[in-house]
Amino acid sequence: MTDAQSFYGRWARVYDWVASAPGVAAWRDRTADSLALAPGDTVVEMGCGTGANVPALRERVGPAGRVVGIDLTRAMLDRASSRPARTGESVHYVQADAARPPVRQCDAVLATFVAGIFEDPAAAVDAWCDSVAPGGRVALLNFQRSPGALAAPLNLVFEGFVRLSAPGTRLSTQSHASAFERRVRAARERLTERTVDRRYETFAGGYLGLLSGTVS
Ligand SMILES: C[S@@+](CC[C@H](N)C(=O)[O-])C[C@H]1O[C@@H](n2cnc3c(N)ncnc32)[C@H](O)[C@@H]1O
Repeated sequence: MTDAQSFYGRWARVYDWVASAPGVAAWRDRTADSLALAPGDTVVEMGCGTGANVPALRERVGPAGRVVGIDLTRAMLDRASSRPARTGESVHYVQADAARPPVRQCDAVLATFVAGIFEDPAAAVDAWCDSVAPGGRVALLNFQRSPGALAAPLNLVFEGFVRLSAPGTRLSTQSHASAFERRVRAARERLTERTVDRRYETFAGGYLGLLSGTVS
C-alpha cells in the first residue's frame, strides 16, 4: 500500500467534506469547461477521489457520454459511489494506478489536486496524454503559492493544503511545499511539451493554477 493510499483510506470522509466545501464547485466547473467537452464524450478523471468533479463532468457529456473515475484508494471510490449525484449509468469508477491508466482513445482527461503526488509526474502526464485521442484535451488543476500581498500568512495555509493533497511527498533539504511545487512544475512542463492550444488561468487569489491543452 502506498503512503497516499493509506492516508486517503483513513481520511476519505474528511477529504470528501473539504473537496465539497462551498466555493469549490466553481473551481471544478472551470476545470470541466477547460476540457471543451461535448455530449457523448468519454472523459477520464485520474485520481478522482470521492468524485467531486463528477457532477460537472456528467452534465457536460450528457446521458450518451461516459465519465470514468480512476483512483488507487478503495475508500475514496466507495465514498464516490455512495453519493447519488456522483453515480449513474454513465459513471464508472475503476480502482487502478493513474500512472498506468487502463484507458485508450478517450476524449479528455483531467487530474485535479493530483499531479503533486506522483514520484515521476512527467511520466504520469505522458501516460495521460497517451490515453487521449488526437484532438482531445487534458487539464491539470493544482494549488500553488501566491505572490500576492497576503502571501506570507496564506502560504502557511498552502502548506496545509499540500499535506492534505500530497501526503507522501518526502521532506529532503527542501520544504514539503517546495518538493510538491517541483512536481507540479514538472507535470505542467510535460503537458506544455505534449499539447497545443494551451490555456493557463489562475483563480482563488492565485492559489490555484489550471493548465489545459489539446493533444495533437
Ligand atoms: C487530493 S486527492 C484529489 C481527489 C480529486 N481529484 C479531487 O479533486 O477532489 C488525491 C487522490 O489521488 C489518489 N491517488 C494517489 N495516488 C494515486 C495513483 N497512483 N493512482 C490513482 N489515484 C491515486 C488518492 O487516493 C486520492 O483520492
